[in-house]
Amino acid sequence: MASVGCIMPDSPIRPLLKWAGGKRQLLPALRRFYPPAFERYIEPFVGSGAVFFDLLSSGRLRDRDAILIDSNADLIACYQAVRDEVDEVARALDDLAAAHARTGRGHYYEVRDRRFNPLRDRLRASDGCIAYTPELAAMFIYLNRTGFNGLFRLNASGAFNVPAGRYERPRIADRNRLLRVAEALSIPRVRLQVGSFETADAIAKAGDFLYIDPPYAPVSRTANFTSYTSGRFGAADQQRLQAMVVGLARRGCHVLLSNSTALEIATLYEGNAQTRAAGLRTLRVPARRAINSHAGRRGSVEEYLITNIHTEHED
Ligand SMILES: C[S@@+](CC[C@H](N)C(=O)[O-])C[C@H]1O[C@@H](n2cnc3c(N)ncnc32)[C@H](O)[C@@H]1O
Repeated sequence: MASVGCIMPDSPIRPLLKWAGGKRQLLPALRRFYPPAFERYIEPFVGSGAVFFDLLSSGRLRDRDAILIDSNADLIACYQAVRDEVDEVARALDDLAAAHARTGRGHYYEVRDRRFNPLRDRLRASDGCIAYTPELAAMFIYLNRTGFNGLFRLNASGAFNVPAGRYERPRIADRNRLLRVAEALSIPRVRLQVGSFETADAIAKAGDFLYIDPPYAPVSRTANFTSYTSGRFGAADQQRLQAMVVGLARRGCHVLLSNSTALEIATLYEGNAQTRAAGLRTLRVPARRAINSHAGRRGSVEEYLITNIHTEHED
């Protein structure tokens, strides 16, 4: 990849996307649980990859396989286009950013409704997969960085329908970041995979490290964070995930899971004998959540970290 040479070597690699539920703000709490030694890194709900890029930037993934999984096929297809055709993506993104600077929200809706959704439809194969072109990937990034709260939501007919965000001067085209993300994803030991979280269960072996960040269980009816794909991540999914996490811990994997402190999660983990018997502890950490559409209801809340990894400062 010709363009990689101009990447600055020493600064951390930041996620390309502004993903709903992205974990950049939780990194200081999560870092305490990065295991000092592990085999492979597996992330079954990768989203914007905040933890993956953090691990990579700190050298913890050197000489290790990383398997990045998400059920959002558009997200993974966008990453693949960035990895494989970054110069073309960058050029298309520059054009979108320049047009956005001229016409703002009008341009957002023009791109979403007249270009992104129609092209996405045309490129959809019979199995439902969409082969992202650089142009489509650039539009995905543009819509993500200018749309409401980094949401990816599809309507009943499968069209992307997130409204424009209210940003004065959104950062759309950051070429250095794009190139560094492309370089990171081009590392031969990094694998991108579309799939359900259970894919990770089939892959994981003793010694592997898994960071598991599912759509959070809603703490109230209004705080529903499950709009990442068209399918809702409901109570049955949370239960299957809990069973998987217990199984991974018993298998000898290093497991770190985040979730809300909703009652259903407290019951599945904090109040569950199997979870404790598998050596999983349930810790509460403060977190600032930025996804609630009611600005007044944002602010300091707690969330759960559930893990069998011990930090240096624990008994
Ligand atoms: C909380 S977000 C992950 C955010 C990520 N940690 C970050 O820093 O950006 C949850 C992710 O799970 C994905 N997802 C939803 N249901 C899934 C499933 N059943 N299997 C795998 N991924 C799923 C969504 O597409 C979304 O990217």
